[in-house]
Amino acid sequence: MINITRSGRLKVQNSEIDFKSVLNESLHNLRNLEGAHKLKVSFTIEGIIPYFNDQKQLLVLFNNIISNSIKFQHSHEMNPQMAIGIQVGATEALMSFKDNGIGIAKENLNKVFDMFFKTPGTKADGSGLGLYIVREVVKKLKGKVSVESKINEGSTFVIHLPNKIDPDLLRKFSKLVQI
Ligand SMILES: Nc1ncnc2c1ncn2[C@@H]1O[C@H](COP(=O)(O)OP(=O)(O)O)[C@@H](O)[C@H]1O
Ligand SMILES: [Mg+2]
Repeated sequence: MINITRSGRLKVQNSEIDFKSVLNESLHNLRNLEGAHKLKVSFTIEGIIPYFNDQKQLLVLFNNIISNSIKFQHSHEMNPQMAIGIQVGATEALMSFKDNGIGIAKENLNKVFDMFFKTPGTKADGSGLGLYIVREVVKKLKGKVSVESKINEGSTFVIHLPNKIDPDLLRKFSKLVQI
């Protein structure tokens, strides 16, 4: 709840985003969660255009999505992993978070972003707020979030967020890279 009121009250900040440091900070925040050390996280980033948004809010998104991939690992999976891919463009960034965890049943896919929703029978130690917060933060940042999943195979969360780069900087940058 603290997170919701916080993200609701704070003004949206804007700075150049260092995705690698957002990821590292998130992994640091989550390092003591049970199973954190077992999940192998890979990271790729494409695009040369600087990306601007609210780094603190991005951290909230990373924390909530990565913590779920840590929590909902498949117990029979020899190599629990999560692949994070970021593509940065002039108008938006596309971020995908793909795990090979327990997956989400089709009938629950459209409920996971609801407040307090937890899949019946899954880990009890959760508030059911994580993905609700994700949805609210994404809404606040005028983006989109979606999920695809197959039970026993894994889940992929995809987030689109606008690039709030200053148009003048974008123009200067575009000229520079064309030379
Ligand atoms: N990566 C994932 N793999 C499998 N199930 C997931 C994943 N992420 C979310 N879920 C399902 O969606 C529900 C809601 O997630 P969330 O809002 O973060 O709540 P919580 O983590 O507190 O249970 C979870 O209880 C879980 O059933
Ligand atoms: Mg969660």
